[in-house]
Amino acid sequence: MIHYKAAYLKEFMPDAAPPAPTTRVFDTVSAVAPEASAHEAHSVAPTAATSASAAPSPDAAPLDPAIIRPSVLRLRPYVPGKPIEEVKRELGLPPDFPIEKLASNENVLGPSPRAVEAMQSALQDVWLYPDDDCFALKNALAAHWSVSSEHLLIGNGSDEILHFLGLALLDRERGDEAIIGDPSFVQYKSAAMLADCPFHLVPLTPDMRHDLPAMRERVNERTRLLFIANPNNPTGTVVTRREFEALLRDLPPHVVVVLDQAYYEYVESDESPEGLNSVRDGHNVIVLHTFSKAYALAGLRVGYCIARPELTSYLSQVRGPFNVNTLAQAAAIASLSDPAQIERARAMNAAGKRQLEAALAAMQLRWVPSEANFLLVDCGREARFVAAQLMKRGVIVRVGFGLETWLRVTVGTQAMNERFITSLREILQAAA
Ligand SMILES: Cc1ncc(COP(=O)(O)O)c(C=O)c1O
Repeated sequence: MIHYKAAYLKEFMPDAAPPAPTTRVFDTVSAVAPEASAHEAHSVAPTAATSASAAPSPDAAPLDPAIIRPSVLRLRPYVPGKPIEEVKRELGLPPDFPIEKLASNENVLGPSPRAVEAMQSALQDVWLYPDDDCFALKNALAAHWSVSSEHLLIGNGSDEILHFLGLALLDRERGDEAIIGDPSFVQYKSAAMLADCPFHLVPLTPDMRHDLPAMRERVNERTRLLFIANPNNPTGTVVTRREFEALLRDLPPHVVVVLDQAYYEYVESDESPEGLNSVRDGHNVIVLHTFSKAYALAGLRVGYCIARPELTSYLSQVRGPFNVNTLAQAAAIASLSDPAQIERARAMNAAGKRQLEAALAAMQLRWVPSEANFLLVDCGREARFVAAQLMKRGVIVRVGFGLETWLRVTVGTQAMNERFITSLREILQAAA
């Protein structure tokens, strides 16, 4: 599969611009990576202060930023893909104007009907606090993965688990550092920045995969966390089992590897590593999963990690009470009982990718072959311009990632994909 991909890349990405070949280190105290979240707005101003209803009285002294932790002042808030209603408001589009949101890698098929039913019957219980320990969901997941409940920790989305990782494992005083691929999922940087710890950004390989030997080279006695998104966001690429096992064999025991499998259910390659095996083998590997992608429960916020029980128990100590809501727990359990829905999502995604790839090839555009539910496409001109034009036509995609001419589009239904392609073709033709 990977060989096929390499050939594919050669054909369609003969001169794929590899990221800068040098590893960079960012000390969150002395320097923040300028592109730390290049696709996100850089704003630390409290938004409430700017809204009319919350406008401070003219006599009020401005808030002294010195009261805020410096590491928080340096954070760039995550700016998610724009909600559909906001796009309509901004562009002055009529309420019934159809918008395709292909920006956040949600599953447009929607959740399992069993999940919807489970939420409906759980509605009457929402006056009660949720089960703090997620007992039933952990049991369902334990059965699903053949692990014990102690191997599991559930979060308010896997984002929250990333947050726990920074809180529980990274310590500035101790001099801890993190290693992160570049580009990769932006929240890994946030976990390090919030803990006030430096992180090294290691460029991907020319075929846009995590460069595990280069990441290994950055490991030193201070390295605590090494993040690998597999498939990677925004590239959709995977590392091979052999590469991953070689990395684990070679890592000192003070390094914890985070293998983020948010897009696991979409992977078609049979060479991609199964993180759980490494957990079973006793490695310091934390496998992340989410119900936000293939399970189509993004709005509920539920994700989890699988790791050796000692690790999950320490991570759990930084967890707030009742972090996973009642509806999320009910829906997640019900979703696990409906593997056919995941099969439908996989089939739709595979067909959608083929549709997009055929159209992109016809337009002579390059893209990165993806194991996930999105494609990173080189549109050959400034991607921000193209994305703005797409938005005017009602199609929302994602740009940034430090890649000037690339946009990321989520695979949608056949009709959504078609609308993206038609709009992209029009924009590129008009700009030619
Ligand atoms: C690689 C990766 N990990 C984690 C997440 C966060 O998922 P969740 O919705 O579970 O917080 C995302 C979401 O885009 C992602 O792309």
